[in-house]
Amino acid sequence: MRSPGKTPFVREMFARIAPRYDLMNRIMSLGMDLRWRRVAVRKAGLPAGSTVLDLGAGSGDVSRILLEHDPGYYVVSFDICPELIAYGRHKFEAVSECSRWMAGDGRFLPFSAECFNGVFAAFSLRNMADLSQVFDEIKRVLRRGGKIVILDMTQPDHWFYKKIFNFHFKYIVPRLGKWLASDPEAYLYLMPSIKNFYKANELKEKLSELGFSKIQIKKIMFQIVTLCIGTKN
Ligand SMILES: C[S@@+](CC[C@H](N)C(=O)[O-])C[C@H]1O[C@@H](n2cnc3c(N)ncnc32)[C@H](O)[C@@H]1O
Repeated sequence: MRSPGKTPFVREMFARIAPRYDLMNRIMSLGMDLRWRRVAVRKAGLPAGSTVLDLGAGSGDVSRILLEHDPGYYVVSFDICPELIAYGRHKFEAVSECSRWMAGDGRFLPFSAECFNGVFAAFSLRNMADLSQVFDEIKRVLRRGGKIVILDMTQPDHWFYKKIFNFHFKYIVPRLGKWLASDPEAYLYLMPSIKNFYKANELKEKLSELGFSKIQIKKIMFQIVTLCIGTKN
């Protein structure tokens, strides 16, 4: 998955759709996406006072939900796209002082080893180049016993859900992207990005190969979304 042009392409794409990013998420997921993020935060069950990295934080929905779940968490919202960061900051900086926004690339995390109790990556890993390097970085910054929490779109295995998936991403999503975000290209990219990413069971195998334990998988919404949680040994 090493592709030199991917990172600038993705950053520019998210910069273009930043003002419509949240609206598109709500509509594409039929209003379910915030609920999925809440499930991820609840299931991760991080201890009180945890320090948490929201990797590829986008407009900060996971960060905000983390702080609502436990105002004692300290959350670092980290993303490569300054336009989405600006939008996210504007949205929830008032919620808590226990948060910090940072711009940067997930392949080169500017944090010391073993400083986070949890790393959340919601709908973000799929967009990153050099995933092996990103996984190495996540492992490095997690404490022992810390959790990696991946929430992302995945290709379903079941034939019927596959049909729903293909129809939704081939016909509905690009049209919504054209009408609502005036950017069909950004939403045409979604389907290949999911097809090039791990399927639910592959994600589980990958975490196991990386040495994570107690791996849990939850398939959501016709298997189109997967929540995968692992613990660093
Ligand atoms: C689909 S959005 C997900 C945002 C957010 N986590 C959410 O739940 O809505 C993907 C995010 O990953 C970020 N991203 C892509 N490549 C990145 C990289 N190499 N390092 C950090 N962030 C990256 C994008 O800028 C974008 O904000």
